[in-house]
Amino acid sequence: MEFDRVQTIASLSFDKEAIPEEFIMPEKEQPAITTFRGLAPEIPAIDLSDPDQEKLVGLIADASKEWGIFQVILLPNYRVLVRNSSNSLRKRKRIWPPPSINYQFWPANPPSYREVNEEYAKYTRDVVDKLFTTLSLGLGLEGHVLKEAAGGEQIEYMLKINYYPPCPRPDLTLGVEAHTDLSAITILVPNEVPGLQIFKDDHWIEAKYIPDALIIHIGDQIEILSNGKYKAVLHRTTVAKDRARMSWPVFLEPPGELVVGPLPQFINKDNPPKFKTKKFKDYTYCKLNKLPRRREVWVAQM
Ligand code: SIN
Ligand code: FE2
Repeated sequence: MEFDRVQTIASLSFDKEAIPEEFIMPEKEQPAITTFRGLAPEIPAIDLSDPDQEKLVGLIADASKEWGIFQVILLPNYRVLVRNSSNSLRKRKRIWPPPSINYQFWPANPPSYREVNEEYAKYTRDVVDKLFTTLSLGLGLEGHVLKEAAGGEQIEYMLKINYYPPCPRPDLTLGVEAHTDLSAITILVPNEVPGLQIFKDDHWIEAKYIPDALIIHIGDQIEILSNGKYKAVLHRTTVAKDRARMSWPVFLEPPGELVVGPLPQFINKDNPPKFKTKKFKDYTYCKLNKLPRRREVWVAQM
């Protein structure tokens, strides 16, 4: 769906009480019917700067096994960096590592754009290293193992921007349909409009908005490497009636040629591999081609 089209529909239908038929989800996916309204448990919130390493490893490992998602409290300024760096970006962009960045496709304005983005990428890298290390330790592996298995210094950082315009019937449609991320890990910054939902214990639960927190999704590649010990989180997004929601995910992806499969450490007689081993680009190709697109969704990819 092109940015302009959703924008146009959003502005045309804004005063009416209707959305085009192709945006209406089947009942079993409509948020008004399927969102859990009771007292739901909350996605774990974890302080990454906690000096108690052992505690941190325990919290992150538990969250990644049970939920596949957690929030981490941000260092100051991160949000500003994200927003500045992603301002006016279109489509997905590689922001790291440097040889993979194609500045030719980057906007020329503002002139500081490139600089801010570099600062943001560097900042993100510290968080990424910390996450990979703790996730490794949480599986009883040496700290370097998971990052190396996901591509090490070749791991690509893909930044995307989701813009969800206000929607007259947020009860009937979705911003993004239920899915798990292809990535190893996704680091997401949302704006203050709620909308991210995750599927846990048979319920769609709304993620609580925590100002200045990053949302960390465990993606397919970490689930595969850990042979299912860590779970890729199933999630979707809803939209709002009179406010625009935005989110800035960074997908940490192995290079396309890298072969990813369950680590030998987790395979034995009693634990056969639960996933196939294949090149990341083949994994991506197979998964994207398996998804039938039945409905339009209320999002504009900028
Ligand atoms: C996504 O999963 O692609 C978007 C998540 C979000 O907007 O919160
Ligand atoms: Fe996602």
